[in-house]
Amino acid sequence: MAALAAAPTQPTETGAPAMTLVTPAAADTAAAAPTPSRMLTGDRPTGRLHLGHYFGTLHNRVRLQDAGVETFLIIADYQVLTDRDVAEHLAEHVEDLVLDYLAAGIDPARTTVFTHSAVPALNQLLLPFLSLVSVAELQRNPTVKDEIAHSRQSTVSGLMFTYPAHQAADILFCKADVVPVGQDQLPHLEVTRTIARRFNDRYGRVFPEPEALLSAAPLVLGTDGTKMSKSRGNAIALSATADETAKLIRRATTDADRTITYDPDRRPGVSGLLLLAAHCLGRAPEDIAAEIGDAGAARLKALVTEVVNEHFAPLRARRADLARDRAYLHGILREGNARANEIADRTLREVRTAMGMDYGV
Ligand code: TRP
Repeated sequence: MAALAAAPTQPTETGAPAMTLVTPAAADTAAAAPTPSRMLTGDRPTGRLHLGHYFGTLHNRVRLQDAGVETFLIIADYQVLTDRDVAEHLAEHVEDLVLDYLAAGIDPARTTVFTHSAVPALNQLLLPFLSLVSVAELQRNPTVKDEIAHSRQSTVSGLMFTYPAHQAADILFCKADVVPVGQDQLPHLEVTRTIARRFNDRYGRVFPEPEALLSAAPLVLGTDGTKMSKSRGNAIALSATADETAKLIRRATTDADRTITYDPDRRPGVSGLLLLAAHCLGRAPEDIAAEIGDAGAARLKALVTEVVNEHFAPLRARRADLARDRAYLHGILREGNARANEIADRTLREVRTAMGMDYGV
């Protein structure tokens, strides 16, 4: 893990174009490491992924996969229930995630895609894991506190406090040693490392202590100049058509200053558009701003529409093709679930043996 520990753990300054992302280099390091790495990360199935997800994490997952890191992607369906009473449209959202993954370059021959709910042995790991953390530790988790503050529920469920231990099961069932995540997931990774360490101390070594792999968290702003997020209604979905994209960008917030400059603090709308173009072109947003100069927001929007649509055309074409073959999609998930089950069963057997629960019956 020494090589990975050397990978940057701080997000770089905002506004860095996609080319300066740090994780691709880390991917190469991981691939070259003497022990092959296993990476696990995932998403809650709450909707289609957008350009913020793509430039923020999805692109890097594909880079890691392509660099030879054995990859697991969990579709965290039980986790959807942390902040709402009912997880709606799950089947549709799960299919959308699989489509977004595959269209972005996730290769099911090299990456295991699966859902929580299909892997009973993974879920059973939650029980011993819960015995390894205190209630106080669970209550201190800053990400959980933040989610409670923004929850749409009037009461807080037990799942809200315990899902970080469940997330430890997501990661440890396959003994992943690398977990690419954003800053907000670091407390959960700390819980995971604590559980792995305590389990090993108490029962003998079974688990690695996985490392977080922080991506450089490139700034991706939505069409209103604030962080791109589905719940803010400012997102451009990966799966949007060229026309939908044009419409969203046409309506994007800009300002009255005709000269285009990159200034995320004072001109978030214009800067967000510049960043989208910058990520697509692999160029600095300042350079693109200078090129547009006095041509104004209309020219900027025309350019952003063109480069976004051009950049994502192949992905969107692949996605549309795949969406026509639901039997294929279901097959990918069925195979992913089967592989995850095989590994989870093996790990659970090890865990029970270590805990003295192998009764020879
Ligand atoms: N908590 C993550 C999120 O909200 C999703 C997730 C579930 C996850 N299990 C995981 C991420 C395991 C990394 C590893 O985005």
